[in-house]
Amino acid sequence: MADIEISAGATGYRFQVSRSGRLRQMAFGDGIAAPRRDDHEQGLPFAYPTYGEDLRRAPALRVTHHDGVTTTRLVLDDHERRAADGGEEHRLRLVDRDEPLEVVLAFRTWADDDVVEQWVEVTNRQAGPVTVHEAAAATPCFSAASGDGDGDAAGPWLHHFGGGWAAEWGTVEERLTYGTKVLDSTGGVQPHLLRSPFFLLSPAGRSTEDGGTVVAGALAWGGNVRLAFEVSAHRLLRVWCGANPHAADYVLDPGATLVTPRMIWAWSSAGRGPLTRRVHRWVRRHAVRDGGRLRPIVVNNWEATFFAFDQAKLLALMDRTRAVGGELFLLDDGWFGTDHPRDDDTAGLGDWQVDRRKLPDGLEALTRGAAERGLRFGLWVEPEMVNPLSTLYERYPDRVVAQPGRERRLGRHQLVLDTCRPEVRAFVADAVARLLDENPGISYVKWDANRAVSEPGTPALPADRQSNFWIDHALATWELMATVAASHPEVELMLCASGGGRVDLGSLRWFHEVWLSDNTDPVTRVRMQWAAGHFLPAVAVAAHATRMGGRPLPFACAVAMSARFGFDLDLTGLRPDELAVCRRAVAGYRAVRDLVQLGDLWRLVSPFPEGDAAAGAGGGERAALAYVGPDARRAVVFAYQLEDGAPAAVPLAGLDPTLTYTARPIDLTTDEAPLALTASGAELLRDGLPWATAERETAGVWLLGSPA
Ligand code: DGJ
Repeated sequence: MADIEISAGATGYRFQVSRSGRLRQMAFGDGIAAPRRDDHEQGLPFAYPTYGEDLRRAPALRVTHHDGVTTTRLVLDDHERRAADGGEEHRLRLVDRDEPLEVVLAFRTWADDDVVEQWVEVTNRQAGPVTVHEAAAATPCFSAASGDGDGDAAGPWLHHFGGGWAAEWGTVEERLTYGTKVLDSTGGVQPHLLRSPFFLLSPAGRSTEDGGTVVAGALAWGGNVRLAFEVSAHRLLRVWCGANPHAADYVLDPGATLVTPRMIWAWSSAGRGPLTRRVHRWVRRHAVRDGGRLRPIVVNNWEATFFAFDQAKLLALMDRTRAVGGELFLLDDGWFGTDHPRDDDTAGLGDWQVDRRKLPDGLEALTRGAAERGLRFGLWVEPEMVNPLSTLYERYPDRVVAQPGRERRLGRHQLVLDTCRPEVRAFVADAVARLLDENPGISYVKWDANRAVSEPGTPALPADRQSNFWIDHALATWELMATVAASHPEVELMLCASGGGRVDLGSLRWFHEVWLSDNTDPVTRVRMQWAAGHFLPAVAVAAHATRMGGRPLPFACAVAMSARFGFDLDLTGLRPDELAVCRRAVAGYRAVRDLVQLGDLWRLVSPFPEGDAAAGAGGGERAALAYVGPDARRAVVFAYQLEDGAPAAVPLAGLDPTLTYTARPIDLTTDEAPLALTASGAELLRDGLPWATAERETAGVWLLGSPA
């Protein structure tokens, strides 16, 4: 059989089928970082190494067969290839001829965006159950030009992200050396608080914004994730990507198929900037729900009131929402619970009836109040959870994830409902659907989830299959999300899990945006949004101006304006000058919203001390980025001074040197008409934008336009 090529343009694989039918990887990406074709066959890495084929390295697949045999040998049986919308689908069917097992390596290419999705389907063809101990979604190899003597910049370099609650998207950029670097997450419900399922890998040396080879990897999985980077003595880097196999042996019955999560790859030989812009286009088109639709300006009451509000307070907040020009009022936690009112986080979860003490006229008065003020209305729910102090738990104490005989340990005073059981899924989906049916004025829902699983057990699985829980639970949660999204397709959904606990490209299929973190301090947010922006377009990243960190309001607004803008502020407690800042921010955001949410992102100055040579002289004390519209005729530039520093021009990129632009500051501190500057694109690209102030916690926002 000839070599097999799977190509989405710049990103792709080439496989070799050996005489014995073994499938080996010849190239991944654009061919630069893969072993050469003339290497001895044994030198080419297996495309999907099994335990038993290559015992010296971590396998992609390890299975105990029905008869107790622990090794697997796969040979290629068939290659199906067919055209698909915007690309191709390939299915490489591998079989174990002695231990009947079928393993399909599946690929979906997207030629317009140079993106490859890949996943694996393992089917048991034996007379009894087999146990899949681990099954990667993808295990590509790179030649790792590492090793002593290559210097600091030599590859491979890995960018990864994580850090825990309120510290999501903490960025580490490090050089990989011999050994295995494992990045993983656990806990099932909010795994990405610990570890983001996204990474950037520069196999041949550190990449910059506009130079170097770099691959973006994203596991589209809402459950536990494992990403492992193994550099062997032969300078081969193998990357293992998939659902975390830890404590997750999957028992597969005869005829049943285990489908791994999808791994998404995009590749660039011209640095991270072009990679980001390509990934954003793909995410908007294929990963996030309604990715081409502009999002509203949201005012949320959480950081304004926490649980302490009543109808009058909410209506007063809506008055102010209208006054500043907000478009959607989002009522957060604390509106429900009758016998166990939700005055704090100890009670009420699961009882989705309005608390009439706080809201005597029900949600109806609020949705009407919003409509009367020309606002949309959104509501917070945490549908997968229950407080023991709730009517739901009193009635159905056994509907939770638990293990027989074990104490049910609480997290944030709550337990996880067992959505592995169809009747629990139906109950939860009905509860949300009923709320939306009874309150047609709700057009937005914030779906939260505030604890991890601690006793992973369910009666939905027999005693000898309890370790299927982690996979089945993640799939059951997705089924629930899909049901809710389908029941009210017009309702926009935000995905939140104690902040950024569920930020992945799989879950976004049902959601319009994510809540990136409960840390809304704008100085931290500049760095978090910068990190997440390597993968997520701003249309999917909610960012609200708040009081956190005690920063100046114009600065907080300018930071939130570079993503999906909103407020989490007590607008009723603002001074007139502060309200004026909010009003200017809303007006400014309206002028640039299409650019921010749908434009091309150019990173200009890195907020990280190590910076990028090509992304400005980033010493970590300032940051700048731009979003550029179609044909580069309009752009918006955001510059943030994080620490005191020396004044410096803001470098620009992405403009058309042949056009003439007018750059108008969007000044959030004054109503006075700002002084505009007119210059050619070439001049602006050479000189940047003058930015006089270097005082910390100040920001500059400019709208650039060139008449058609
Ligand atoms: C965690 C979320 O991240 C917050 O925004 C808020 O909705 C609280 N939960 C409410 O309990």
